[in-house]
Amino acid sequence: MSALAAKYKAINLSQGFPEFNPDPSLVEMVNRAMQNGLNQYSPMAGQQSLRQVLADRQNSWGRAFAIDPDKHITIVPGATAGLFSVFQALVMPGDAVILFDPSYDSYAPSIVLAGGVPVRLSINPDGTYPFEELKQVINNKTKLVVVNTPHNPLGLVFDRTQWNNLANILLDTRIMVLSDEVYEHMVLDGAEHVSVLQIPELAHRAVAVSSFGKTFHATGWKLGYVTAPEDLTQEIRKVYQFLAFAANTPMQIAAAEFLSTNPHYEKSVSTVMQQKRDLFASKLRGSRFQLLPCEGAYFQIVDYSRISELADLDFAVHLTETLGVASIPVSAFYQNPPKGQRWLRFCFAKNDDTLLKSTELLCQL
Ligand SMILES: Cc1ncc(COP(=O)(O)O)c(C=O)c1O
Repeated sequence: MSALAAKYKAINLSQGFPEFNPDPSLVEMVNRAMQNGLNQYSPMAGQQSLRQVLADRQNSWGRAFAIDPDKHITIVPGATAGLFSVFQALVMPGDAVILFDPSYDSYAPSIVLAGGVPVRLSINPDGTYPFEELKQVINNKTKLVVVNTPHNPLGLVFDRTQWNNLANILLDTRIMVLSDEVYEHMVLDGAEHVSVLQIPELAHRAVAVSSFGKTFHATGWKLGYVTAPEDLTQEIRKVYQFLAFAANTPMQIAAAEFLSTNPHYEKSVSTVMQQKRDLFASKLRGSRFQLLPCEGAYFQIVDYSRISELADLDFAVHLTETLGVASIPVSAFYQNPPKGQRWLRFCFAKNDDTLLKSTELLCQL
């Protein structure tokens, strides 16, 4: 859709990346690290200074076990590389991995490359999770359940009750949990991000994946980290050593310095996204689109069934070509998209004038 947006010079609200820059002081810190000659390989697990600040942060947010920078945190070149390493490390040929559709597009191929079998359940249209179905599909081949919170594309936040439901279902099993938490610092309307590492019944068999690309508004920097108990971290690092070995050094040094000197930075991320979501949603309220609830991340789902009967891919292409606004058809995130579901995903992490121009166009429909 980004390519189509470029071809038709459409406003690109499709791919999930901010239109604005990271904090200028962070960019300066990266420059300074480069100029100071910090341009060679980092240790495999990542710069100690960054792992330390991340461990301190997570411990202050509350975790079910004390996070140790050496034993539990691995810095990776983006969450995608982290997710890939986790799947290769934990999934053996024939293992089943449960995904809740709509799901981020890198999960299923990474599972298949590890010889695993993705088992895809669908989140209900009202945003609730299919826990009864989950109970039915779990068997002795099930190795891992993947949760994504806040959720791309639906913007849902997996709350404590849902974590407890999942923990109860997995109670007498050895099934592990992979929690993709790349949007952890974008929670809206006072919602709370709950990490899998806060859930005592799950944390010892769980992996959380985070992304500085999202947290710093710098998706092109490709930097993230994986937090897991020691035994799982050891396995994940065995894969990661030969996937990339290390993430880039100047950005790690800068990330450590920036976080150390801005102890409350993460809170500001939700504030920025709340303002963006409120602007985008308020301007769309006068349109014929129906807005689904958005609790986190930077995506607004809209139902366009009052406007068109086209399938979502066709409608997204039509909007890009004729109206000049690009979105993502939500069916792209499913193995079996629900029949008749007419949903588009718009990324609202854009400058205000982009949001104003695009909503003005969308209100013409
Ligand atoms: C749910 C989810 N997981 C992972 C990623 C990838 O993050 P990164 O850019 O750090 O690889 C994204 C990026 O859009 C995402 O939406």
